[in-house]
Amino acid sequence: MTDPRIIDGKAFAAGVRARVGRQVAALKEKHGITPGLTVLLVGEDPASQVYVRNKGRATHEAGMRGEEIRLPATASHGEVLARVKALNRDPAVHGILVQLPLPKQVDASAIINEIEPAKDVDGFHVINAGLLATGQDGLVSCTPLGCLFLLKDRLGDLAGLNAVVVGRSNIVGKPMAQLLIKESCTVTVAHSRTRDLPAVCRRADILVAAIGKPEMIKGDWVKPGATVIDVGINRVERDGKTRLVGDVDFAGALARAAAITPVPGGVGPMTIACLLVNTVTAACRQHGVPVPQE
Ligand code: GUN
Repeated sequence: MTDPRIIDGKAFAAGVRARVGRQVAALKEKHGITPGLTVLLVGEDPASQVYVRNKGRATHEAGMRGEEIRLPATASHGEVLARVKALNRDPAVHGILVQLPLPKQVDASAIINEIEPAKDVDGFHVINAGLLATGQDGLVSCTPLGCLFLLKDRLGDLAGLNAVVVGRSNIVGKPMAQLLIKESCTVTVAHSRTRDLPAVCRRADILVAAIGKPEMIKGDWVKPGATVIDVGINRVERDGKTRLVGDVDFAGALARAAAITPVPGGVGPMTIACLLVNTVTAACRQHGVPVPQE
């Protein structure tokens, strides 16, 4: 028997991906639309290659058109920019994802902000960040969107809950905080300079850890009955083996939490599932059709 307090992100993501597959089938049948995602990978970073391969596989499994463009690590800023501009113009491409990190000679934020906002399925463009911050419909960064799906599945209405987001990155911490504000949570964003972080975390009904420091959040920082979402994926050497651990001391937190995501198998699988969700959303908006509902 698996512990019911452990949130099975892999199973939840499989359900989301299956729903996306049905939506794609409906879009093809009713409107002749095949949602298409293009991933641009520059260089040979091993972790990026794994992510890109997994994204491509998930896209095809959902019945979408998936394309991968690879450029050498020596590609210039201008070359990457020219590819993005061509993808912006291509009507068969509904979603564009530029895999990060980019090589040093390429200005990542300039490239991201060149992506057509309606095709920015990562939700990283300043327009999409601004739409989220002002409570308007744009495209939302995949990892925080996945965290929100898991939280709503567990807790239902989040209104009035104290949420603490540890980490203030543009990709996770800030959009996570914006999403939780939209759900009427009382949100605190904590970070490396926060005073008495354990005390701040102990106030959280919802604790989201996105700091990138292995097992930094200890069990006794968790309020009894809290829901803990661990976004961290850290490689550590332990007993001569490489292991993946989160930003939360899982065993310690499990002793107090009502629910917690494991690493791996928690938030990670939700990120790709939400990329597929965003691609369907983007395709529907570009064609002016509603997202198929079940
Ligand atoms: N590199 C690691 N994670 C991500 C992601 O979610 N999006 C992009 N574009 N690059 C990444």
